[in-house]
Amino acid sequence: MKYTHQGVSLEYDDLGNGTPLLFIHGFPLDRSMWGPQVNALQKVCRVIAPDLRGFGQSNDTDGQAVTMETYADDMKALLDSLNVQQAVLCGLSMGGYIALAFVAKHVNRVKGLILSNTKAGADTDAGRQGRLDTSIKIEQTGSTGVVVDSMAPKMLGPDAKSETATFVRSLMSHQRSTTVTSALRGMAARPDRTPLLANIKFPTLIITGSADVVIPPSESEAMHKAIAHSTLINIPDAGHLANLDKPDAYNEALQAFVNQLA
Ligand code: MLT
Repeated sequence: MKYTHQGVSLEYDDLGNGTPLLFIHGFPLDRSMWGPQVNALQKVCRVIAPDLRGFGQSNDTDGQAVTMETYADDMKALLDSLNVQQAVLCGLSMGGYIALAFVAKHVNRVKGLILSNTKAGADTDAGRQGRLDTSIKIEQTGSTGVVVDSMAPKMLGPDAKSETATFVRSLMSHQRSTTVTSALRGMAARPDRTPLLANIKFPTLIITGSADVVIPPSESEAMHKAIAHSTLINIPDAGHLANLDKPDAYNEALQAFVNQLA
């Protein structure tokens, strides 16, 4: 399905009934990363999975920074268009940065929060500079190869299926270079959300993977300590894309959380 607002066109899936669960994908991916979750969770709740601005089948961005707040506003506008007053947000990695921006701006629209393989902090100075340098390299070469080659080998744990690794690389390779530079610049500009965590009063599930080398479990443990009444699940041997690496364990955690909220 397609939703258009202010010249931005977002492609999304909307399946099932019951508690709305909004999936926010990571970088540089699109909504198809949530395939195993959309299939399983639509049996127990309403699943909404958009391609973020520029990614997948949504329309392109111009390469300028798209901030986490802008993606979050897109998500809020999508919920408005679907008449969804409150949703459970599930964001993985960059999707988690966006979910936290959504909490900062639209807290009354949040029924529950799932922060997966993500962190609350801003980039270090070196990390920020690395993203900005990479975005210039992409503009100069017109290719996202530098991102795909550096990220793809780190996204899954050591015992992930080879077809999953092939799928992830292909998903990354299909994203447009302008979209990727917009997101890199947006992530570089994101603020530290740590102060927000103490104000989170709704149910929160934090998921990490013991083999996540992109955002290590220590980041999830820190968020768990800072968010009162949060639950932390560390999926054994799961890498950064824990949802694709260990879909059964991941889906079980989501299902239990959604059932508890229903
Ligand atoms: C992601 O998976 O979304 C990225 O690793 C996030 C990031 O680069 O910080």
